[in-house]
Amino acid sequence: MRSLSTDTMGDTTSALSRGGCESLHSSTTSSAEGLRMAQDFTHAPVLLDEVVALFSGVPSGVVIDATLGGAGHASRLLASRPDLGLMGLDRDAVARAAALTALAPFGARAVVIPSRFSVIAEVVAAGRAGDSPWPVLDGVPMGDRVVGILADLGVSSPQIDEENRGFSFSQDGPLDMRMDPSAGMTASELLDQIDEHSLISLLRDNGEDRHARRIARAILAQRPITTTAQLVEVIDRAVPRADRRRGHVASRVFQGLRIAVNDELGELDALLDASVTILSPAGRLVVISYHSGEDARVKHTMRRWAEGDCTCPPGMPCVCNSTTIGSLVGRRAVMATETEIARNPRARSARLRTFEADR
Ligand SMILES: C[S@@+](CC[C@H](N)C(=O)[O-])C[C@H]1O[C@@H](n2cnc3c(N)ncnc32)[C@H](O)[C@@H]1O
Repeated sequence: MRSLSTDTMGDTTSALSRGGCESLHSSTTSSAEGLRMAQDFTHAPVLLDEVVALFSGVPSGVVIDATLGGAGHASRLLASRPDLGLMGLDRDAVARAAALTALAPFGARAVVIPSRFSVIAEVVAAGRAGDSPWPVLDGVPMGDRVVGILADLGVSSPQIDEENRGFSFSQDGPLDMRMDPSAGMTASELLDQIDEHSLISLLRDNGEDRHARRIARAILAQRPITTTAQLVEVIDRAVPRADRRRGHVASRVFQGLRIAVNDELGELDALLDASVTILSPAGRLVVISYHSGEDARVKHTMRRWAEGDCTCPPGMPCVCNSTTIGSLVGRRAVMATETEIARNPRARSARLRTFEADR
């Protein structure tokens, strides 16, 4: 059995052999259906002006969009800074196909790589070594400076809206939830294998404190659960009628399952660890989270980088030789304005944090 990381780098290499331009194809999506999904890809980028402003002062070089989606952020970034190149990563073939269309006007300044962002260090190393696509500006490969990394976490609107992907509790479809439908376990398979204790923890970690035990037991009793409608029905029957308000419980259960199926927290930890090894001086890491567990990880990690692991009493000069590697850009998370939320309700839970590497 190959490791996930070998699979991903295998994908990357095959993209290189096709000049970085992959065709829209995955093992579970027919070409025609995939093409239709890519053409229909509509996702409103969250905190777009804020992201563009945060990268407006970085030195010239390459920005990595670790969650390319339909390239809404990426294309505005490239339009705003003609001296930047872009390497975009996504593990969803439909998103990459949509991004390739959106990025076409920028030619060789943008490359699209099929990859999980947890292996970003390997992808960048391969690009810098010339073994994988790397942005080209005015006919010359851009230098190896990575001046920015953007991670707009979670799922895109088309992933949620397409019932066949199985992310949505409001539409019936196969209980899948994989961002990359060619790899890993589906949500249905995960539920087949999970034990009661782990399922309760998964539900609790996602805010479903009150009914976690009842829901977990109901799910285990009804296995196999193969469709989203079947899961919603099981949740509904497990939760008292008064608490079934507008799908809130189902939404937390679905979110918890999605995070587990895609190992989203493990992916985020690996991305954060790798980011500081990749960023060049004065480069910026911008992360947008939509879940309190993710935002807490981002906040604590960036604070540790900015403040070091200093053990000296607050207010006293540091004598413990703790080292810092950069600074926070703003102490608090940036949130969407009411105007943006009215236009795009998905922006309501967004929390954006930025770290700048030392100059
Ligand atoms: C919120 S959307 C990004 C939207 C994008 N910023 C735009 O403007 O269109 C998140 C994207 O990240 C991708 N994604 C999530 N986790 C990933 C991971 N670990 N590795 C690679 N891509 C990931 C998803 O497939 C999805 O397309």
